[in-house]
Amino acid sequence: MSEGHAPRAVLVTGGGSGLGEAIARRFAAEEPTARIAILDANGEGAQRVASDLGARCVAGSVTDEAAVDAALDDFGPPDVTVCAAGIVRFGPLLDLDANAWREVLDVNLTGTFIVARAAAGRLVAAGRPGSIVALTSINGRAPGLHAGAYGPSKAGLGLLVRQMAQEWAPHGIRVNAVAPGLIDGGMSAPIYADAKIRAAREARVPLGRLGTAADVADAVYWLASANAGYITGQELVVDGGVTDSVMATLPRPAVVDGVGQSGQSGRSGQD
Ligand SMILES: NC(=O)c1ccc[n+]([C@@H]2O[C@H](COP(=O)([O-])OP(=O)(O)OC[C@H]3O[C@@H](n4cnc5c(N)ncnc54)[C@H](O)[C@@H]3O)[C@@H](O)[C@H]2O)c1
Repeated sequence: MSEGHAPRAVLVTGGGSGLGEAIARRFAAEEPTARIAILDANGEGAQRVASDLGARCVAGSVTDEAAVDAALDDFGPPDVTVCAAGIVRFGPLLDLDANAWREVLDVNLTGTFIVARAAAGRLVAAGRPGSIVALTSINGRAPGLHAGAYGPSKAGLGLLVRQMAQEWAPHGIRVNAVAPGLIDGGMSAPIYADAKIRAAREARVPLGRLGTAADVADAVYWLASANAGYITGQELVVDGGVTDSVMATLPRPAVVDGVGQSGQSGRSGQD
């Protein structure tokens, strides 16, 4: 269901591949009259998706303020802004070059700020409400190994989302985040090409499967809809329960599960 006037104008950064592409396609499928713009540093990807959807294609970086401003001056205030552009640079912290650190913070955190501010500024000037959804990650909530600045960038983004939500709520602009978990798609697809690693990771997910780009698109589309009209400043974790599973998956003796005491066994033990 759309929020505000229809048809909606929807800007998707990082819409040239992976999760951003799936999100742009979801908006196009649900709202065929929506005006969609794809902003991606990968011009080829952006053009491919934009052509398919009859959307506007902007080849440029979210870190380039002038390019973002020009794109939005051209497109107009977006009712929905999805900030999916993101990068990761792998490597142990001890070997991490400061430039790789800065590059990740620049795209994931500063770039999202630049786009969100440009979108919100235009909405405020036009006196229109809107919705912004940023893609964070479970890696912003629990540290991973060898993902460099990625987790810190997403943790920072999580707080930025809450701050933007507070500052822009008086203007009717909602700002939320979706934190994907173990997703078989986008930048994580190469991880799951290894069958053993895939099976081992899948086995750790309480819901018993890896997530998909469609799972993420579902959450983003819902948060951007009027059905989530009273929700702002929240991070919706889309991870099949994996982030919270540490305590539940620790080995326990039978006595902890209450076997032989209540006549029932279960996951009621206090670890
Ligand atoms: N795939 C996952 O497992 C996963 C999990 C958690 C969070 N995420 C987040 O979801 C978002 C989408 O990631 P994905 O998995 O689809 O990755 P992806 O690499 O397939 O897509 C990212 C897109 O962002 C674009 N991009 C990169 N730098 C840019 C820049 N400076 N300006 C504009 N566009 C730029 C890329 O060209 C690409 O099209 C990212 O923010 C990522 O951190 C992904």
